[in-house]
Amino acid sequence: MKPCIAAIDSLEILDSRGNPTVRVNVHLDNGMVGTSSVPSGASTGENEAVELRDGDPKRYGGQGVLKAVANVNQRLAPLLKGRDVRAQADIDLAMIALDGTDNKAELGANAILGVSQAVARAAAMASDLPLYAYLGGAGAVHLPKPMMNVLNGGKHADSGMDFQEFMIFPVGAPNFTEALRYGAETFHALHKILAKKGYSTSVGDEGGFAPQLKSNDEACDLIVEAITAAGYRPGEDIAIALDPAASSFYEDGVYRLSRSGQGDKTAADMVALFQAWVDKYPIISIEDGHAENDWAGFKAMTATLGDRIQIVGDDLLVTNSRYIAKGITEKACNAALIKLNQIGTVSETMDAIHLCRTAGWGYVISHRSGETEDSFMADFAVAMGGGQIKTGSACRSERMAKYNRLLEIERELGRAARFGR
Ligand code: PGA
Ligand code: ZN
Repeated sequence: MKPCIAAIDSLEILDSRGNPTVRVNVHLDNGMVGTSSVPSGASTGENEAVELRDGDPKRYGGQGVLKAVANVNQRLAPLLKGRDVRAQADIDLAMIALDGTDNKAELGANAILGVSQAVARAAAMASDLPLYAYLGGAGAVHLPKPMMNVLNGGKHADSGMDFQEFMIFPVGAPNFTEALRYGAETFHALHKILAKKGYSTSVGDEGGFAPQLKSNDEACDLIVEAITAAGYRPGEDIAIALDPAASSFYEDGVYRLSRSGQGDKTAADMVALFQAWVDKYPIISIEDGHAENDWAGFKAMTATLGDRIQIVGDDLLVTNSRYIAKGITEKACNAALIKLNQIGTVSETMDAIHLCRTAGWGYVISHRSGETEDSFMADFAVAMGGGQIKTGSACRSERMAKYNRLLEIERELGRAARFGR
């Protein structure tokens, strides 16, 4: 018997920042229920699919999502009732067609993605498979390489750093479980170093420390010190990855490094700065080193550094195959950040990753700064052949939920598990 959708319901829950977000339950006629929750960004790209907010100042400062919840309950539920829950692509297409806009503004990408993810979960249950195996098939045995965001700046923390994310990337680890241990031990070593130097050890939105450092350079110096103190070799065991999220300090055509007092920079100055950093530090990946509309800056960066390091487009590409195709043609980067809620359905996200792989690009599956306890993206990363994953530092349970799920998957796969290729 086909597993069919009997009912769909949704409710407003709170994310890791205490802001409302959408949770969806997909009920099957065999009694199974697939549940999923939607995350929310702070440094969002302007071309992302629209996250529908109520705008009612009397509730949650206008951030409520009751309209999105109503769209699930009143418009998407009747659309999908009775369908075979395994028809993911058809279900996603039906929701896109009902929405009718280019950016899911009518029903809300939060409503649509909640249903899309919960449909995948319910279908996996009905197929008696773990989610990664349902979505990825028998070849879904590759664990993603984690990038762990241990120092938070920009829009994620009131710290001294203009750049949003300084991540450790345990490239020398033999498997995911060890990579996570390398990362967690380095995180704890960094904690001790910061405390000894009299810096704050409170954490930002993604669980990284948020100290008032004197410069962006100091952040890299401290990370190298922490890697060594934890007993690892910088560059060989653990490298550094950055996400400056440059759109957040780009104003009137210049990059304003005001928090660190480094002054205003042109796009070319930013390339020179990153080049000097890549020479000085074991940096192997830089995401959004330029602003989302500065395609010329991205292209100059890729022309200069693209054969040495990974250049990742996040706000530039917004997980949208249209922009990724442009990025490939124009050689604007050599990797894409992948956020399910930037595009709004599971099947469109799979299509974006397919395009990256066809072009020989890297892909980094990413959480949002506002997260929930849902670990959907961990299974999704394994389903998509591993690649890389960034889901915060080694603390805050909404981040650890994803890493812990990957520990479970690696154990479940046993000898079949693959890592690092
Ligand atoms: P966001 O940050 O979720 O606040 O957009 C993550 C990122 O920029 O990669
Ligand atoms: Zn980013």
